[in-house]
Amino acid sequence: STTKLVDGFGRHITYVRLSVTDRCDLRCRYCMAEHMQFLPRREILTLEEMAALADILIARGVRKIRLTGGEPLVRKNVMELVRTLGHRIGHGLDELVMTTNGTRLEKFAGELHDAGVRRINVSLDSRSADRFAHITRGGNLNQVLRGIDAALSAGLAVKINMVALAGINNDEIEDMLRWCAAMSMELTLIETMPLGDVEEDRTSHYLPLDVVRQGLQDRFTLLPSAKRTGGPARYFEIPELRARLGLITPLTNNFCDGCNRIRIAATGTIYGCLGHDQKVELRDALRSGDAAAVDALLDQLLAGKPRRHDFHIGGSPAVDRHMSVTGG
Ligand code: GTP
Ligand code: 5AD
Ligand code: SF4
Repeated sequence: STTKLVDGFGRHITYVRLSVTDRCDLRCRYCMAEHMQFLPRREILTLEEMAALADILIARGVRKIRLTGGEPLVRKNVMELVRTLGHRIGHGLDELVMTTNGTRLEKFAGELHDAGVRRINVSLDSRSADRFAHITRGGNLNQVLRGIDAALSAGLAVKINMVALAGINNDEIEDMLRWCAAMSMELTLIETMPLGDVEEDRTSHYLPLDVVRQGLQDRFTLLPSAKRTGGPARYFEIPELRARLGLITPLTNNFCDGCNRIRIAATGTIYGCLGHDQKVELRDALRSGDAAAVDALLDQLLAGKPRRHDFHIGGSPAVDRHMSVTGG
């Protein structure tokens, strides 16, 4: 079908976040539990099924696809999918992007650029090797820094994603801003969202970004920027630091009215909202090659897409699934 994807609130869906695997080589404390049960492979869509689904979505007006995980670059042969989707750029697709933890970028940055990817977001919550290892439960900071260098050398625009964590990395925000500016990268700060049970106490580490913003404003000029990437961040220029800062504020400043996205788990389960269970299963329809059935299921999802999340800090998580199921 070529009918546009519009939800019950009149919001046009042009952005799809496609999780290619639920696995990850790190275990960030706010994202995963220490011991995760990963999905058996037979439940995961093949790369061909993912490409077929992408084509159905592009036909219906999706202009931006973000590959996520878990960690997308741990999926076997993932570059085959990246190359296939890269051929859709300029033929319906405006942008093919990726969110990665950076551990495998040293190997893949050049191939990503060759395939048509021009912009990636790299998750990096600390530039201290010890803290990084703590937050990720064993990650190697230098490996990620080498990955970031490789990405910049390959010509990829890099945006750093930093989950703001009180008592863990709040004292590093200014340093991170200066470093990103010096490296010609943008920085986006993210409020921690309560998805799935993790051992970490999200309440005590919650850092509201209105507080961070006020602290920065006391010392620097924060000019609201017209820049938009189609994601949830609102951007500011900080001339004194020559920095561009994005803020993702699900808790202190809701952005759901402008929602333009849906997310697909590696199993083919499609979710209307990050903060809700509302979902539709596409896998059987995809496996039988029934595009009309897939279209009908997409319409069903959109008809029930929630107006907004209701994340709040304290109490139990809004949904049981972990962030790593949909890659955010
Ligand atoms: P850009 O294309 O650069 O704007 O990227 P993005 O912000 O859309 O993607 P990214 O994967 O970097 O996500 C950054 C953070 O935003 C992650 O923590 C996501 O979970 C979160 N995020 C993305 N979309 C939504 C959304 O619809 N709702 C909420 N609550 N969070 C979102
Ligand atoms: N809250 C906010 N952001 C999270 N991320 C992972 N888990 C959470 C959470 N609970 C971030 C990662 C990555 C992006 C996809 O989501 O750091 O940058
Ligand atoms: Fe892996 Fe990303 Fe989750 Fe960290 S936030 S454990 S890098 S999926």
